[in-house]
Amino acid sequence: QAGVFTYDPGFTSTASCDSTITYIDGDAGILLHRGYPIDQLASKSHYLEVCYLLLYGELPTPAELEDFESRVTMHTMLHEQMMNFFRGFRRDAHPMAIMVGVVGAMSAFYHDSTDVNDEWQREVASIRLIAKMPTIAAWAYKYSIGQPFVYPRNELDYASNFLRMCFAVPAEDYVVDPILSRAMDRIFTLHADHEQNASTSTVRLASSSGANPFACIAAGIACLWGPAHGGANQACLEMLKEIGTPDRIPEFISRAKDKNDPFRLMGFGHRVYKNFDPRATVMKESADEVLELLGVDNNPILQVAKELEKQALEDPYFAEKKLFPNVDFYSGIILEAMGFPTSMFTPIFALSRTVGWVSQWKEMIADPQNKIGRPRQLYLGETTRDYVDIENR
Ligand code: SDX
Repeated sequence: QAGVFTYDPGFTSTASCDSTITYIDGDAGILLHRGYPIDQLASKSHYLEVCYLLLYGELPTPAELEDFESRVTMHTMLHEQMMNFFRGFRRDAHPMAIMVGVVGAMSAFYHDSTDVNDEWQREVASIRLIAKMPTIAAWAYKYSIGQPFVYPRNELDYASNFLRMCFAVPAEDYVVDPILSRAMDRIFTLHADHEQNASTSTVRLASSSGANPFACIAAGIACLWGPAHGGANQACLEMLKEIGTPDRIPEFISRAKDKNDPFRLMGFGHRVYKNFDPRATVMKESADEVLELLGVDNNPILQVAKELEKQALEDPYFAEKKLFPNVDFYSGIILEAMGFPTSMFTPIFALSRTVGWVSQWKEMIADPQNKIGRPRQLYLGETTRDYVDIENR
């Protein structure tokens, strides 16, 4: 059960690194952040408190939390000249393309927090990245729809600030719905960190060369964009819309089982979880709650999702392959109900995961022995042979 860790000395680890941040038991469907179960954090905590826990290892006291939230709040604005980066993209650029570019460019603006050997600079870079990611994501969205950028407001909490920067327009006042803000904050928390997933391993590998933190996080964003990883939430909603009605579900289930068909059920399966993804359980509860509160609980896409989950979980193929909904299966339904286009789903995942990338980056930098460094390979190519002149080939 949770908290009981047995380590078999005979176990030959294939682990890429040591870590004390997040623990996953894929068979038991357990996800702990510094020992705290994800369902407790999602229901009792909030994103910036989880950020503090991931970064510093303990839940903050009230004074520590107030100081941390104030430091994050004071770094939410971007250097005004960074607006030129957004305006350099085509309007139809995917927001992930913009995020990769703008976050990488941060190293050209925040020189005083790029020296990875300076603990204070590492701390400032960490706060800047967590604080500015909502502004970057929101401005990427505003740019894509041709609306003016909305600046952050210091009196708003983290999730409310993001919603307002996405949905407010100068022509009218915008009041953040506390229900949407709570749902947004919970989605941030559910995506905050996830052990050594592909994008986190990318950040660790990039950091092992001593590259600056902004370049390393940009590398993580690029990796997360893939449809097999963070891009799955967008791909999943597009799949659910393509299915359209419950009567078409059997057709898609048989395609997912057909080895000759590259189609996979998006939002299903996981490299580690082989029982259930505890985040999907919380996300499904959130979907019911948010859609009911928004008065769209009869959303046909939600009905298709629930029926697809039911039929897939009853299908022996998926049971045998241990496939079930993952964190991405329901998140898109909530985000669309909140007003986001599918193109914003992965940027929201990237925004949420920034604290996980930064926490794991700090952990690796603090322990030089704990680096992925330089992976080796199993060479299966030709043995040594002499060059053949072209006239003899
Ligand atoms: C995330 O690592 C992380 O922690 C990632 C993440 C995080 O928080 O960072 O959790 C976020 O990336 C979640 C996953 C989002 N991706 C998707 O939902 C895309 C659809 N899922 C698949 O692409 C797939 O399940 C993967 C990539 C997630 C896992 O791929 P694997 O390792 O091949 O899955 P597996 O070993 O469990 O597969 C077992 C079998 C395979 O068949 P065989 O080769 O044994 O015959 O099941 C098949 C797979 O082909 N399979 C699927 C399937 N996923 C796996 N068949 C149909 N539909 C699927 N979704």
